[in-house]
Amino acid sequence: MYKLAVFGNPIEHSLSPDIHAQFAQQTGVEVDYQKILAPVNDFSQFATAFIHKGASGFNVTVPFKLDAFNFATELTLNAKTAGAVNTIKIQGSKIIGENTDGIGLVNDLTNHLNIELENKVVLILGAGGATQGILLPILSKNPKRVMIANRTASKAEKLARDFAKYGKTCGFGLDKIKDDPVDIIINATSASLAGKMPDIASGCANHAICYDLMYGQQTPFMDWAKANNAAVIADGLGMLVEQAASSFEFWTGATPDTRTVIKNLRS
Ligand code: ATR
Repeated sequence: MYKLAVFGNPIEHSLSPDIHAQFAQQTGVEVDYQKILAPVNDFSQFATAFIHKGASGFNVTVPFKLDAFNFATELTLNAKTAGAVNTIKIQGSKIIGENTDGIGLVNDLTNHLNIELENKVVLILGAGGATQGILLPILSKNPKRVMIANRTASKAEKLARDFAKYGKTCGFGLDKIKDDPVDIIINATSASLAGKMPDIASGCANHAICYDLMYGQQTPFMDWAKANNAAVIADGLGMLVEQAASSFEFWTGATPDTRTVIKNLRS
């Protein structure tokens, strides 16, 4: 029996227990996956208590991804470059930190939307934690170039510099986005949470694949993509299920069928 959980605050509306229960049923792996509400300033005590109860690992979500990064005794390259951890695996005395968010995005693009990143021009909106978490998995698929555009230009420029060793990157302000078309636009800003879409040049969306990391609703970014003739418009539900699948595999070695789970959640 794998004793697992997701830590967050808030955590009530997390879909992870449902997703992992479906994975467990499909694969025949026995899993007990709970939701744990931890106090914002006491993550490590709650995580330690869960490990002492015999945990095999756990997920962490907002606001604990940096706490989990600091809590881990070992980090994968993904977690190191992301600067954040969403998956912890307990292996003897080791607390291994991984980040499956970016892998989840890439797997959703390739497995479900049939989109290959190789040789594509990718524009990412935002330069916060979400962008940092997806950059390495995107760059490892050899896109032609990854442009990072952010309201605060200096943060985009810094991320572009930090990731330049992994592929062709550049960073600039949202106001510098041109009307030239790009292949893929990824909205990694938190603007959708406030019901907003950054005011940017719209020509870049023409015939583009527009992907919002947010899920579960028609976001302002998705409305903008539709109004500006995007070829494909997607929310982040597939990414949510794929990052969960990657965590499940990291813990158990079993590969779940994500297509069925995405279909179930959509219905
Ligand atoms: P997350 O972990 O979700 O990435 P974050 O690290 O706080 O959260 O980053 C939020 C991102 O959304 C930032 O890139 C932020 O831009 P700034 O760096 O200029 O703050 C971006 N963002 C948030 N609200 C925005 C808005 N209304 N318009 C444009 N960008 C916005």
